[in-house]
Amino acid sequence: MRVQRSRCEDRLKKDLVYVNGKLLPRADAVVSVEDRGFVFGDGVYEVLRAIRGRLFATRFHNERLSRSLEGVRIKLGAKDSPSKFVDVGKELLRENGLLDGEATLYIQVTRGATTRAHYFPPEGTAPTVYISTARFTPLIELAEKGAAAITHPDLRWGRCDLKTLNLLPNVLASQAAKEKGAFEAMLIRDGVVTEGAKTNFFGVVDGTLRTHPSDNHILPGITRSVLRDLAADIGIGLDETPITVDEIPGLSELFITGTTTDVMPVVQLDGRYVGDGKPGELTRKLQRVLSESLASGGD
Ligand code: PDD
Repeated sequence: MRVQRSRCEDRLKKDLVYVNGKLLPRADAVVSVEDRGFVFGDGVYEVLRAIRGRLFATRFHNERLSRSLEGVRIKLGAKDSPSKFVDVGKELLRENGLLDGEATLYIQVTRGATTRAHYFPPEGTAPTVYISTARFTPLIELAEKGAAAITHPDLRWGRCDLKTLNLLPNVLASQAAKEKGAFEAMLIRDGVVTEGAKTNFFGVVDGTLRTHPSDNHILPGITRSVLRDLAADIGIGLDETPITVDEIPGLSELFITGTTTDVMPVVQLDGRYVGDGKPGELTRKLQRVLSESLASGGD
């Protein structure tokens, strides 16, 4: 009886996605095998967080998506815009029954589908727009005890400030971390820590909170900038001087940030404890202010 009821509930549960102007069941959604996102990774994306149906920091995500689109020279159709995509996202959250608890919203735009050639497709080729939602459960237990990370070479290109689909170096770094039982890979370029494979990175050195400056070697994370402002509000300054590999042994605290990571303490790096191996005081404080800000609703 119980099995039958849950099957019935599953059938009733919608999982709609948006592809090029249409809402349709995920299982029926298709894009062309000639899509440049598939063939070249030629596209950009955003991931937003929804808490009880309210999306967090949409203005910042919209601005970043516009910047990524401009950076790779993808032009949206006249009726499309990042804020329209967010409105579609809100509709999907409603339709998919995700107005309670937490969820993520994924927005992806590629340069469209056309016969394979490296240069841009003919004028008028419509970008492919894909938007979907997923149920999300925050990593509360891990955030309480702290995570392990490894260091890994940063093999990415020179425009990491654009949120593009070309994630192969991030994928390989993430897999290397997973194979070592770690949650994240801290990427090292020219002797400094840039960021994580899917997160930004903060460390405390000699009592000062430090992170990599916002330049072409890191993604300007929305959580990173929200947290910088929240920290300033409670009198915690941020020094955007990169942390060198030589400074790693002297880190007293370390944490990573991201839309699906919040403030995650890193208590072990390459198998060695960071500080005393427990989440630090500053990390805890910033964890609290971010979770208050998330709970108070976003926009
Ligand atoms: N990742 N750095 C990289 C390389 C990232 O991929 C991400 C986000 C971040 C954090 O950015 P934000 O605070 O805006 O989420 C930093 C997303 C969540 C992903 O690829 O799934």
